[in-house]
Amino acid sequence: MNSSLCFLMLITSIATASLLSISMVGHTNPWPSSLPRDLLLRPDIAAKLRLDPESLALASTDFGRLNHAAPAAVFCPSSPLDVAALVEFSYASPAPFAIAARGRGHSVRGQAFAAGGVVVRMEALGGGGGEGRINVTDYRPDDSRFMSYVDAGGEQMWIDVLHATLERGLAPRSWTDYLYLTVGGTLSNGGISGQAFRHGPQISNVYELDVITGTGEMVTCSEDEHSELFFAVLGGLGQFGIITRARIALEPAPQRVRWVRLIYTDFATFAADQERLISPSNEYFHYVEGSLLMDHTIISSWRSSFFSGEDLDRISGLGARHGTIYCLEASVYYDSVASSFVDQELELLLESLNFVPGFAFTNDVTYLSFLDRMHDGELKLRSMGLWDLPHPWLNLLVPKSRILDFDQGVFKGILTRNHSFGPILVYPTTKNKWDGRLSAVIPDEEIFYAVGLLLSATAEGWEYLEDQNRDIVQFCDQAGIRFKKYLPHYTTQEEWRKHFGTAWDKFVEMKQKHDPKALLSPGQGIFPSPSAVQPLSKY
Ligand SMILES: Cc1cc2nc3c(=O)[nH]c(=O)nc-3n(C[C@H](O)[C@H](O)[C@H](O)COP(=O)(O)OP(=O)(O)OC[C@H]3O[C@@H](n4cnc5c(N)ncnc54)[C@H](O)[C@@H]3O)c2cc1C
Ligand SMILES: *[C@@H]1O[C@H](CO)[C@@H](O)[C@H](O)[C@H]1NC(C)=O
Ligand SMILES: *[C@@H]1O[C@H](CO)[C@@H](O)[C@H](O)[C@H]1NC(C)=O
Repeated sequence: MNSSLCFLMLITSIATASLLSISMVGHTNPWPSSLPRDLLLRPDIAAKLRLDPESLALASTDFGRLNHAAPAAVFCPSSPLDVAALVEFSYASPAPFAIAARGRGHSVRGQAFAAGGVVVRMEALGGGGGEGRINVTDYRPDDSRFMSYVDAGGEQMWIDVLHATLERGLAPRSWTDYLYLTVGGTLSNGGISGQAFRHGPQISNVYELDVITGTGEMVTCSEDEHSELFFAVLGGLGQFGIITRARIALEPAPQRVRWVRLIYTDFATFAADQERLISPSNEYFHYVEGSLLMDHTIISSWRSSFFSGEDLDRISGLGARHGTIYCLEASVYYDSVASSFVDQELELLLESLNFVPGFAFTNDVTYLSFLDRMHDGELKLRSMGLWDLPHPWLNLLVPKSRILDFDQGVFKGILTRNHSFGPILVYPTTKNKWDGRLSAVIPDEEIFYAVGLLLSATAEGWEYLEDQNRDIVQFCDQAGIRFKKYLPHYTTQEEWRKHFGTAWDKFVEMKQKHDPKALLSPGQGIFPSPSAVQPLSKY
């Protein structure tokens, strides 16, 4: 081809591309300086970029509402191939830009931000169970094996996965408390709830993944195929690839759930009963959690639908006398035929537990309404304008051997200084259900507690809650409590090194291999993002 023809073609394609971008984003949105202009030569990519202020604003904030960072553009892929094309482009570009998958932005510390880069709105792939994005395979090779699974797009929310699988009488077995989170988002972290003591976190219940790595390559991986990438991605904080499909283990869905809440006034007794209920010799319940009810959090809209007004009055009375009380929450799954059996067994079991006499409350619900139990609370909070508040949440995994010290220093100490609003979850889970090959980091002890301080700030501001969080971490460090943060957030690489401990070198090695230009999920703040280009190092 002669050079003038080539030039002509170039001009035409630039013209087309700029026309395209103008019609798409409106005249008021100039091309962002942090994105290479030659992206305009790729209309297949450029046509799916949004530069309008609304799209940018949405991608600049998250559930935490603690910080903001604007991307240069938001990308709305219509297929995983689009995502691959975008990543490949950035990787090959002399001016690479950061890329963050955004599930539903339910992070609280900007983990799904891409300052000056591109946020991929995963929802565009087919949110809400979009056509062909959730496929259930009911596979029972013989009588003794049950290996059904669901293939779900990484952008799918767990609530939609649940609906689709229930239609076939099946369901995933490990959950989060709240289901309006995406498959890719929770699998990048862990995905924990009261079922984890039996089945492990959600990341321990995945057979296979489709991942787009930091070079733009699409890789199908599992324990047997590209296993290194598979293990790295699960719990990998979005650092090694974008999950576009996950194959998740299913079990036959139970029909109903008998759900109990038991009130304690003594932390040690509460914790001992919880530990009993998760011990393998005592596997009666399918779900075990618990929470702290501080005097002022008892009438919290998150929790009240379970109790009658009269129950709540009695519980509040108990709380007023004791300051802080504890609520053990546990559930048995069953099919309707076995109902009377459940009653008998449950009664026997309750007799062996040490809650305050007369303070056992029982509920009976469908499996769906049990798993989706937080949704009513969300709607209530939304209607009161209490959902979109700052959420300086702190989630810690605390070794069982130190949980009483933690109670003394934190629950009975630091937390009593301020009145704040929101649930405080405390429940034990078991290390042997976590696959040690995955990226997620947990304490080095057989049993550890998940402690979720899910507090909302009030109009007075949230800084005092951040001070409180800092005090809690400092207290643990000083007391030598070897906790790990869940949904971690750190600002220096030194802290990340400490978080990963002996797993750090492997984490860095995987990063160099699968995302060598550190394009992906820069909001985690683990590796310097490409705007601050420098070769990756261990420091
Ligand atoms: C009300 C509420 C309740 C919660 N309850 C629980 C709970 O019970 N248990 C629990 O474990 N967690 C819980 N979480 C935390 C939740 O797991 C995290 O917020 C998680 O990040 C999922 O949110 P998301 O899907 O919106 O992901 P985002 O916040 O959008 O993304 C999280 C991180 O993952 C990356 N990412 C997103 N999608 C992908 C993908 N497809 N591939 C690769 N990386 C990706 C992002 O870049 C970002 O770094 C809760 C959060 C909220 C707000
Ligand atoms: C579901 O199946 C359809 C048809 O085979 C396929 O095109 C689609 O990619 C599948 N989706 C997932 C998420 O595996
Ligand atoms: C929280 O407690 C600290 C220490 O007691 C106090 O100084 C501060 O004013 C309190 N803040 C709020 C918002 O209650």
